Amino acid sequence: MMDNDRGYRLKNGLIIPNIGLGTWHIKEQEIIDKMIYNAYQAGYRHIDTASKYQNEKLIGNAIKKYNIDRTGLFLTSKLWKDDKGYERTLKAVEQILNNLQTDYLDLLLIHWPMTSENWKELNIETWKAFEELYKEKKVKAIGVSNFMVQHLEALLPNIEIFPMVNQIEFHPGFMQKETLEYCADKNIIVEAWSPLGSGKIFDNDVLKELSIKYNKSIAQICIRWCLQNNVIPLPKSTNKERIIKNISVYDFSITEEDMNKIDLLPYIVK
Ligand code: A2P
Repeated sequence: MMDNDRGYRLKNGLIIPNIGLGTWHIKEQEIIDKMIYNAYQAGYRHIDTASKYQNEKLIGNAIKKYNIDRTGLFLTSKLWKDDKGYERTLKAVEQILNNLQTDYLDLLLIHWPMTSENWKELNIETWKAFEELYKEKKVKAIGVSNFMVQHLEALLPNIEIFPMVNQIEFHPGFMQKETLEYCADKNIIVEAWSPLGSGKIFDNDVLKELSIKYNKSIAQICIRWCLQNNVIPLPKSTNKERIIKNISVYDFSITEEDMNKIDLLPYIVK
């Protein structure tokens, strides 16, 4: 699955950088500008957003402002629940492209599987629009987010092009192993939102111990752990030093024994 040490090859051949910049909750132009600039300088070539984050326009502005080469950037957005359905999806994606000021997305995801009683039909209908957008090359890859096995099982038998990615919550203490294994079996790449447990994992003793042992920050341990599980972490930070550190994880590896220790951590509540 690993194409080189910085990316994976999706099942349609597209290379996806194996660390992405998360952007949830960040909604100020000045902060986004600095974050995108610092991340690009640090080597990030993958940005993850969603229409629900309400920052697509700001991200588009920052990409323009710093003349970032669009062709070298992997840009993901997600379709919100209210926009599901064939026609609504097509319309919403036009808006996403307008906001991001681009004529294509590298990856488009269904943000959440459930909306209403007819969620199964709605996902299938939405997916038909995704397939059309993919065939028209308005999106280079299509996938889902927060889909558990039951949601994938309801979708896959009814569609032509399988999802290439599933973005789920994934961090130490919350591995969603069943979904992970199901996706690996179907050749669906898993991405991790909240790979740092949204800050909840920093007091954990096992992670503290490993941080000392490897001489890496706890965040770097978590990010490396994602990579060694073949999962794409999407850490978010607005701090320049942390942005740099979070992608500086290619010079060490976690032993199998220590990977198991992290795998076995119980759910971490702060
Ligand atoms: P900050 O923006 O101040 O760096 P997640 O990606 O799991 O949602 O976690 C994001 C949270 O973790 C943010 O609050 C972010 O704050 C913080 N964070 C990101 N990188 C690091 C790091 N290397 N060390 C400590 N906190 C971090």
